[in-house]
Amino acid sequence: MVSFASGENSSPKDQFVSRAWMNFPDGFLWGISTAAHQVEGRNENNQWSDWECSGHIRNGERSGIACDWWNNAERDFDLAREMGLNALRMSIEWSRIEPQPDQWDLQAIKRYRQMLEGLHQRGIRPMLCLHHFTHPRWFERDNGFLSTNAEDIFERFTRRVVAEFGDLCGYWVTFNEPNVFAALGYVLGEFPPGEKGKIGTALRILHSMARCHERAYRAIHELQSHAQVGWAHNYAIFEPARAAFPPDRWITRLVNHLFNETFLAIIDHGKSLFPLNLLNGNVRHVQGACDFVGLNVYSRFHVSFSLRHASQLFANVFVPADVPQGDSGAEKPYGEAYPAAIRLAVERFSRLGKPIYILENGVPDAQDRIRPWLIVNAVKELDRLIAKGNDIRGYFHWTLTDNFEWSEGWGLRFGLVALDSSTQQRTMRPSGHLYSAIAKANGMSLDLAERFAPVPVEDLPSDSRF
Ligand code: BGC
Repeated sequence: MVSFASGENSSPKDQFVSRAWMNFPDGFLWGISTAAHQVEGRNENNQWSDWECSGHIRNGERSGIACDWWNNAERDFDLAREMGLNALRMSIEWSRIEPQPDQWDLQAIKRYRQMLEGLHQRGIRPMLCLHHFTHPRWFERDNGFLSTNAEDIFERFTRRVVAEFGDLCGYWVTFNEPNVFAALGYVLGEFPPGEKGKIGTALRILHSMARCHERAYRAIHELQSHAQVGWAHNYAIFEPARAAFPPDRWITRLVNHLFNETFLAIIDHGKSLFPLNLLNGNVRHVQGACDFVGLNVYSRFHVSFSLRHASQLFANVFVPADVPQGDSGAEKPYGEAYPAAIRLAVERFSRLGKPIYILENGVPDAQDRIRPWLIVNAVKELDRLIAKGNDIRGYFHWTLTDNFEWSEGWGLRFGLVALDSSTQQRTMRPSGHLYSAIAKANGMSLDLAERFAPVPVEDLPSDSRF
C-alpha cells in the first residue's frame, strides 16, 4: 500500500518522509464512534442514570445534558461532514425507545429517524449499535442479562428497531464490548451493578449476551436481507510483567483468555473453552453469527501474579510509568496508548475470515499531547495490514467530541473536538485537523504525519516504533 519512488541522492529518511504516501481502498470508512448515554443528555430511565444518582461517578459528576445530542446532534453531524468523515457509529438508547416493557415511545423513534436522515443528508453512513452499556431500568430490575427471558426481550427490542430504522441503516452492532460490560460490572465493580470478584456471574452474563446476540443476528437478517451484523469487541493486550517468571506468564494467559477469548470462542466455535463450557449452557447455535467483526482497540497492560489480588484471580493488572499514556484517571492509569495493538487484534481476528472494522481507537488527552501520534501510527498499522491482505473496511476514532466518560465522568477527554460542557462550545483539536486531512485524502502522506505528530518517534519506547 505504501509506495516509495526511488530517490538516489537523498538519505533513506528523507526519501521516506517526502515520498511515502498511503492510499486506502475506495470506500474505506473514516468514521467516529459515539454512544447514546455519553452524548445524548437527559437519559434518565436506564440503569446508568441510577448509578450516577447514587454517587458512583468520579467527583459525583453526572452525564447531565452530555453533548446535547437529543436536542442538537446535528451540530456534531455538521462538524463530521466538514471534517470529511463518511461514517458515524451511534447507539440507540433502549430505555428511550421502550421505556416500559413492550411500550414504545413514538417521539423517541421519530427523533432517531431524524438523526439518521440527518446523517444521510450529510453523506455520512450510519452504523447503529443496539446496546452500548445501558439498558432500561425495568430490564435491570428484572435481572437484566441474567433473566431467563433476556433473549426474548432483547429480540423484541431488536425487531422493533430494525422495523423502524431498517430503511436508514444496514450496519448493526448488537453489543458494545460484552467483555468490558461483564468485567467492569461484576468483577471490578466500576460499572453498575457494582459487583466485585463475581467471575462466575460475569461469565454467565457473557454467555447470555452471546445468545442474545445470536437471536438479534437472525432477527435482523430476517427483516433485512442485506444487513451487515457484528459486535464490537474490546481487545486489550496483556503482557507478563516478568516474562521469565512462570506465575506471571500463567496469570497473564488466564486474564487474556477470560477477557479477550471467551466471547470470541463462542462466536468462532459455538462453545466456550473448558471448563466454562460445562457451566453456562448451550451456545452451539451462536457459532458463525456475524458478518463482520468490530474491534475496539486501545491499550496494553502488564500483569503480575499477586497474592493481594485474590478477588481478581491473583492478577495485578497495571501500566508501567515509562510508557506513552493519556491523561490519568483518579485511581489508576487508563492504559498504555499502544497503536501496535491494532495489528495484534487484527491478526487474532482475521482467522474468522470476516471483514474487520476498527470501531474504536483513541486516548484521553485534553492537551492533544499524544493523540496525533496515536492516529498517525494507527493509520500506518492499518495501511500495512491492508497491504498484507487483511480485509479491513473502516476506522472509527473514539470519539468526535469530548463526552461523558462513564465512571470517570467528565475528567477524561477523548474528543478530536474539545467540549466546554457549560456552554456547549466546541473547539477542534490539532488531532481533529489531522484526522480530517486523512479522511479527506483517503490516505496519509508522511509529510502530514510528521507535521502533526508532535512526539518524536525516537522518544518512544522501542516496541512502540514503526
Ligand atoms: C467504550 C466507550 C468508552 C471508551 C473510552 C470503550 O471501551 O466503548 O464507551 O468511552 O472505551 O473509555
